[in-house]
Parts: sequence; C-alpha cells; structure tokens
Amino acid sequence: MRPRDRSQQTQNMFQKSPKQSTNITYKTPAEIEKMRVAGRLAAEVLDMIGLHVQEGVTTEELDLICHDYMVNIQKVIPAPLNYRGFPKSICTSVNHVVCHGIPGPKKLKKGDVLNVDITVIKDGYHGDTSRMFAVGTPPIGAQRVCRIAYECLYIGIEKVRPGLRLGDIGHAIQKHAEAQHCSVVREYCGHGIGRDFHEDPQVLHYGNPGEGVPLVPGMIFTIEPMINAGKRHVKLLPDGWTVVTKDHSVSAQWEHTVLVTETGYEILTLSPGTTTP
Ligand code: MF3
Ligand code: CO
Ligand code: CO
Repeated sequence: MRPRDRSQQTQNMFQKSPKQSTNITYKTPAEIEKMRVAGRLAAEVLDMIGLHVQEGVTTEELDLICHDYMVNIQKVIPAPLNYRGFPKSICTSVNHVVCHGIPGPKKLKKGDVLNVDITVIKDGYHGDTSRMFAVGTPPIGAQRVCRIAYECLYIGIEKVRPGLRLGDIGHAIQKHAEAQHCSVVREYCGHGIGRDFHEDPQVLHYGNPGEGVPLVPGMIFTIEPMINAGKRHVKLLPDGWTVVTKDHSVSAQWEHTVLVTETGYEILTLSPGTTTP
C-alpha cells in the first residue's frame, strides 16, 4: 500500500474541489497482457510460500525462499527490495502489524496470523497481491478479522465497473468492516499500478458513494483493505517501515491487482491457489 498523500485531499485556492488523480495511466491491450503475466507470477509466489508458513520458521527464512523463487525460477524482480530503501524482497506483517513488516529473525508461533505481500516486476510491469496465512489455529478474534478483511476485498472488487467511482469501492468496504465492529486503516491505501509500483489514483478503503475518480476501462489498480479488530489508529515503528495498530489489536489484509473492463472487472493476480468467496 502506499501512504496516503494528504496534499491530494487539500484544496488550494485555484481548485473548486479537492484535487483528484492527476496522472492515471490507461493501459493498452498489450500492456494489460503483460500485467496479467506479472499478476499471475506474484500470485504463484503466494501459492508456493503457503506451504512454508509453519511454526518455528522465521519471516527472514520466508523472505529468502521467496527471493530465490522469484529471481531464479520465475526470473522476476522482487519490487520491494531497495524500494525507497526497503531492505527485503517481501513484506511479512504478523498479528498486530498492519503492513510493511520487515522479514526478520523472529520465529512464527502457533496461533499467529500473517500477511505476506508479494510484488514482482516482469517485463517492466508490476503485479501486487497479498494474502493472510495462519500458523495452527489462531484465536477466534484473529480468524474473524482475517475473514472480514477477505470479504472486504471481494465486496470492493464487486464494485469495479465503468460508471461507478472509487468512492463506491471505499464505501462498500467501510460499510462491511464497520458493520462487523472492525475498523478501516486510513493512512494507507490501494494504488494504480503498471510500469510504476505506486501510480495514481489512490484507492481509499473508505469513502462516500458517487464520489472520487470515475472507473474507466483500462485502469489498473490494487484493492488492499487493512482491517483492524480494534480501533483504526496506527503507529509507525522507528524502523521507518513497520506499521502497527496503536491498540495492539490484530490487523488483516488481502490484496488483488484489478483491471477495469468494459463490463466490470478482471482480477489480474490469479493463480491455481487463489480462493474466491
Ligand atoms: N506491496 C505493498 C503494496 O501493496 C508495498 C510494499 S512497499 C515496500 O503496495 F517497500 F514495503 F515493499
Ligand atoms: Co499494493
Ligand atoms: Co502489496
């Protein structure tokens, strides 16, 4: 997810309404085909790493396994590595970590839930997807927020079609999360994606129906709601990356890269291991 750019929310003296996206790239059929390939490869890393998510493994080991698979087998570039100084090839966010967890020496233990977020670059184009994994059987509250975040992702995706707007997606996600007494993180959002990792527009996971950028065929963006079991507030750790819930409640996130088509949507980050509701 990208950190929200607050300047896009603020009106300046020449603007009638808050600035919306400036630089959306609409993809050609040839680019869309490359995005399908990148998206499938990113999803296949998640299929592969799922088997390694077990009690006693460290997130650093998961990073190494993914790195080797991406570089040596898939021949892709792990986009996070050195991205704005990020030190690893994947993000691993355990329990109360919301996003951008840095793989490290801590061992996974029974009952942990973690998000693994994979972004690859293939032939110049990015594919970005994440899923939640569980070690053993997590506490019921952790299971629940994982399920609700998953439902939020697909409720958001179902809103993708020409004629609707980004606000319709955000509103649907927020409504579901809050009806289940969960909260939506506001400081980070989904994003346009293509040649660049994080392109316009910003895809907020909350909002108002009928507002925001209109959805147009050829747009490609991620939807990646971060849903907390407790309050929505987050805190950035001193490492400059790791985002955690302020109240230490469990947080969950699922992510797909999605294309707007003439009639609706196409999920680009599909693989044999992709689950659907
Ligand atoms: N993959 C994340 C996203 O969904 C971004 C990670 S940025 C990194 O947008 F530098 F932490 F890798
Ligand atoms: Co993303
Ligand atoms: Co991601």
